[in-house]
Amino acid sequence: MRTTVTQIREMKERGEKIAMLTAYDYSTAKVLDRAGIPMILVGDSLGMVVLGYETTIPVTMEDMLHHTRAVVRGTEQALVIGDMPFMTYHISVEDAMRNAARFIQEAGCQAVKLEGGVIVAERVRRIVESGIPVMGHIGLTPQSVNQLGGHRLQGRAPGAAAKILEDARALEDAGVFAIVMESVPAPLAALVTERSGVPTIGIAAGSGCDGQVQIITDMLGLFTDFVPRHTKHYAEMAETIAGAVEQYQAEVKSGAFPTKKHSFTMDESLLAEFRAR
Ligand code: KIV
Repeated sequence: MRTTVTQIREMKERGEKIAMLTAYDYSTAKVLDRAGIPMILVGDSLGMVVLGYETTIPVTMEDMLHHTRAVVRGTEQALVIGDMPFMTYHISVEDAMRNAARFIQEAGCQAVKLEGGVIVAERVRRIVESGIPVMGHIGLTPQSVNQLGGHRLQGRAPGAAAKILEDARALEDAGVFAIVMESVPAPLAALVTERSGVPTIGIAAGSGCDGQVQIITDMLGLFTDFVPRHTKHYAEMAETIAGAVEQYQAEVKSGAFPTKKHSFTMDESLLAEFRAR
């Protein structure tokens, strides 16, 4: 039985912290699912950490559906959230609803996430009314990186802080089941959390949020282009993989791999017959 959005909301009510991670493929999703992670986000961050783009902007619906399907196939208990890519919910309410529905119908996930506050609230309301749970995303919204002038901390200026509070309220009123808050000063994120009736999930937003989300390739030490300040490495996968690959190459060159254990035999008389031909 998968985690439901109601159960996620109940975790806030109980004061139980929520650990969310991103995943982009079947095998990783399976490991996270078995480890008991209740919510997995198939983030459009895959544009940067899986596909090698500089931003999330080039990511398409087809990219997202492809990876979301893989994550859904790898999970049994986690609530899987598909991240709506750039310009798939901006053009019209109809477009937003059609694309949200594609995540649920074609990729099989249970919820969608989209970026923005007041400005997308009406779209969120219509998607929720159609029966699709929506997670909001405020603060630093990476799809607006060109307008924000980079992946920068948001909400430090007085007007900007008030806007984050307004955005959170607008999303809650529109019916989101949770809100990601990215790159917001910790005291402001704590205040939004206190005033919010739905769980806040922070990334670079301090410990006062109801939950935390990390990008899986960051927390595993697999993405090496840069290490964001908010990232904690729980493993050093890039080094582990490089070590394994070097050992593999050395063993192939020396003949130490493969051994008999990794190979198959065949009937000796059949072999003799082939040799005699
Ligand atoms: O795309 C993503 O992975 C995200 C997280 C940073 C929340 O939006």
